Amino acid sequence: MALRTIRLQGDPVLSKKCRDIREVTPKIRQLIGDMIDTMYEANGVGLAGPQVGVLRRVVVIDIGEGPVVMINPELLETSGEQTGDEGCLSLPGKAAVVTRPEYVRAKAWNADMEEYEIEGTGLMARAICHELDHLEGHMYTEKAEGPVHDVDYGEESD
Ligand code: NI
Repeated sequence: MALRTIRLQGDPVLSKKCRDIREVTPKIRQLIGDMIDTMYEANGVGLAGPQVGVLRRVVVIDIGEGPVVMINPELLETSGEQTGDEGCLSLPGKAAVVTRPEYVRAKAWNADMEEYEIEGTGLMARAICHELDHLEGHMYTEKAEGPVHDVDYGEESD
C-alpha cells in the first residue's frame, strides 16, 4: 500500500470521463488499496480514480462505517432531496452548498468482481453521488448553489 498524490481542481484529469474496469488485476487491487489509504490519510469520506490520476471507474467511500469499494458503479434509483455543504479532497479547505438526492440505490462490483447493490441515505447518498460525478469528469463546484467558502481545518470532506 502506498499513498498517492491527490490531484487538485484545475488538473485536467479531473474533467475527463473514466473508462470501465474489465478485470480486477493485481494493479487495480493495488490502486484500490492505495486509494483507501490515501482517503484515510487525508481524512476524506470518499475518493475517485481521477483524483489520483487514474481514469478508471472506481471509487472508495467510508462515512465511518468501513470502506466501500465501488467498481463500475451505476445509480439505479434516487429519491428525495438534501441540501447542504459538500467538500472534496481535490479542493482542500473549501465547501459549498449542493443539493443531492436523500436516498440512492446503486450497483457496482466489489474488489472480487462480484456485483452487489448498495443503498444509502444522507451522507452516504451524498458521497455516492459526489464520487460518481468524478467518474464523469465533474466537480461538485459545478453544482454549487452559493459561493465556495472556506471551512475549518479538520472538517471532513469527500
Ligand atoms: Ni471529490
